[in-house]
Amino acid sequence: MSSGTRHADTTPASDLLPAVPLLALDRQYAVLRDEIQAAIGRVCDSGRFVLGPDVTELEAELAKALDVPHVISCASGSDALLLALMALEVGPGDEVVLPSYTFFATASAVTRLGATPIFADIDPVTYLVDPADVRRKVSRRCRAIIPVHLFGRTADMDALLPIATEAGVPLVEDAAQSILSTWHGRCTGALGDIGCFSFYPTKNLGGAGDGGFLTTTRDDLAAALRLLRVHGMEPRYYHDLIGINSRLDSIQAAILRVKLPHLDAWTTQRQENAARYGELFAAYDLAGQVTAPTDEPRGRHVWNQYVIRVADGRRDELRRHLTGCKVGTEIYYPVPLHLQKCFAHLGWHKGDLPATEQAAEETLALPIFPELRADEQRTVVGRIAEFFGAGRKAARKPDSSRLPTPHVLRRAVGRADEVIS
Ligand SMILES: Cc1ncc(COP(=O)(O)O)c(C=O)c1O
Repeated sequence: MSSGTRHADTTPASDLLPAVPLLALDRQYAVLRDEIQAAIGRVCDSGRFVLGPDVTELEAELAKALDVPHVISCASGSDALLLALMALEVGPGDEVVLPSYTFFATASAVTRLGATPIFADIDPVTYLVDPADVRRKVSRRCRAIIPVHLFGRTADMDALLPIATEAGVPLVEDAAQSILSTWHGRCTGALGDIGCFSFYPTKNLGGAGDGGFLTTTRDDLAAALRLLRVHGMEPRYYHDLIGINSRLDSIQAAILRVKLPHLDAWTTQRQENAARYGELFAAYDLAGQVTAPTDEPRGRHVWNQYVIRVADGRRDELRRHLTGCKVGTEIYYPVPLHLQKCFAHLGWHKGDLPATEQAAEETLALPIFPELRADEQRTVVGRIAEFFGAGRKAARKPDSSRLPTPHVLRRAVGRADEVIS
């Protein structure tokens, strides 16, 4: 992440842009268009549409990029989690400890196998699963722990790995949002027993549809996963175990192979964007109203999402204001998993996981994609400052002509009110 020597360049309110998208996949496609079209054409010419040479090559390239011995591709990140738990023979009567503040798939993989998810609370600063709560919730029936490297930041593996070892249970990393993130120099996916990744288009390495992959350092699990993704079939039409159909399409693999060489540079751009937001929030003196996310000193944060916390119950009001200004935002996630209707039978109640519930009410994701421009980021933070009526720090920014004028602020408040009513 960049040093504090750079000064945030703030923008007069009158110069803010008319719109900033949450994500603009078209900008990435515009640069790679010819290569991607050629790759798709090559697959169509070959007539090999499922698994095949592009998939094998992609798996090898990912194994090298992540420095992990085994990569097994599959049809989605959700399937990766399911396959991981199948390979670990999780089933009815078993418990799996995981955060409630995550995407649905982390928990549904557990329930689909008849096992019970045991939800742990999060650290309110990192939004990642709280190891102390994981330790409390690991019982004799626990068969796996799934930390989620949420938003691109690695969970506290220094604390979690010993808990798994002491309990004698495997650790499955939900790394769907964290490709190329590290912990003390090692990539996520190579830290626990199995890593689960997603190629969903919003991910840092996104395909043109669904896709995913698993990583493992264990030869036995790699062999099991390769069988499970093809109905447990080996040789053809002979089934010693029951798997599922979860293969990666060749077209996806060919497109992902075009993108993979750019992933490291795209990740650096995400890190630079995160640093720029930090400078802008400081320049506008918004610390009382908005808590910016922190970087991870023990590893590389890959910023799949840039998620702020909004104080005083004003998150939804701020979001409506930003939507009115055509600034894209998203809430990850408005309802924690332990309070989802479909899990009501598990018996969790409001108040059971206070840090999780508070995060669900207060957090808001801002645009962070690699191609996001500095003037767009200035617009995002300028619009947030407009909402709160905040100006730039007087000491650092004596040029009051660049502050939002009372007139502009009045207009902004009026606009927010209009949207709310
Ligand atoms: C944390 C997390 N786990 C699992 C998944 C599931 O991945 P997919 O959408 O590829 O099934 C996602 C993707 O949205 C995710 O963000």
